[in-house]
Amino acid sequence: MRRLYADRLVLFTAVIVVGLAAVFAWLRINEDQALAAQTTTGDVSNGQRLAEQHCATCHRVGPAPGHGSGQVTPLFRVAARPDTTAESLRAFLSRPHGRIPPNTFSAEQVDDMATYILSLKP
Ligand code: HEC
Repeated sequence: MRRLYADRLVLFTAVIVVGLAAVFAWLRINEDQALAAQTTTGDVSNGQRLAEQHCATCHRVGPAPGHGSGQVTPLFRVAARPDTTAESLRAFLSRPHGRIPPNTFSAEQVDDMATYILSLKP
């Protein structure tokens, strides 16, 4: 009888431990996803290269003068806005604008450009 009780206690404890581990793992995943939405993991220098290649005809790309038409918001000004986030840039750059044909950029390239633009935040 005593033995059975001890076995049940071990089983009960194991279930609680596994359950708690699952809950913490789940919380951790949600936290990572929330972070991923705010931050970018792209390659800044590739993003800069893409922006110079595809965006500089209209937007000033770097902080130094010399690029862009001067008619369109420079990318560092876009970066400086408090409401510019990785998420907002990804959403914007996934849609066509400025005569760039749809699907010109892969999700990875969009991420690289978003990372580059965010790197210009003052
Ligand atoms: C043919 C011209 C042209 C090209 C090329 C172009 N854009 Fe634009 N872009 C515009 C115009 C026009 C607007 C809207 C007016 C403005 O923001 O000054 C705009 C708006 C934007 C905005 C939003 C700015 C805001 O005010 O919220 C972002 C971000 C942006 N472009 C990024 C890019 C990136 C990154 C590239 C390169 C992949 C690019 N653009 C290429 C013309 C262009």
